[in-house]
Amino acid sequence: MKTNSRWGLTVAPVMAAAFLIPILASSQAPFPEGRARDAVFLVCTQCHPLTRITDNDLTAAEWEFTLYDMIARGAPLHEADLEAVRRYLIENFAVDEQ
Ligand code: HEC
Repeated sequence: MKTNSRWGLTVAPVMAAAFLIPILASSQAPFPEGRARDAVFLVCTQCHPLTRITDNDLTAAEWEFTLYDMIARGAPLHEADLEAVRRYLIENFAVDEQ
């Protein structure tokens, strides 16, 4: 097969994706998809990594407290996303809800 410059253009992004996908997949594994996840990824990563969420064994009540605590600390969570994010954190990460 004749190689030409088009191959370089085609292969480079595929190679990049092949390296990135496992990294993204592993870091997002405990975060089920959805609107609340997008808000969590955007808002909660502004001050600390997502491991703050995955590495803490909080109860539903503690999650609720922590979420308001983060907002008090300046987390720019839109009011429209608040209820969805509250439920998302509790359903997926509260130790007493699993
Ligand atoms: C404005 C910066 C900021 C944003 C945005 C932010 N946090 Fe935090 N978060 C902090 C700080 C500072 C701490 C450390 C508090 C401490 O150690 O006392 C923290 C700690 C935490 C902890 C550990 C609490 C504990 O009891 O040990 C959790 C869980 C957490 N954040 C979740 C979140 C979630 C979920 C979001 C998104 C809604 C978020 N954070 C967004 C600043 C932020």
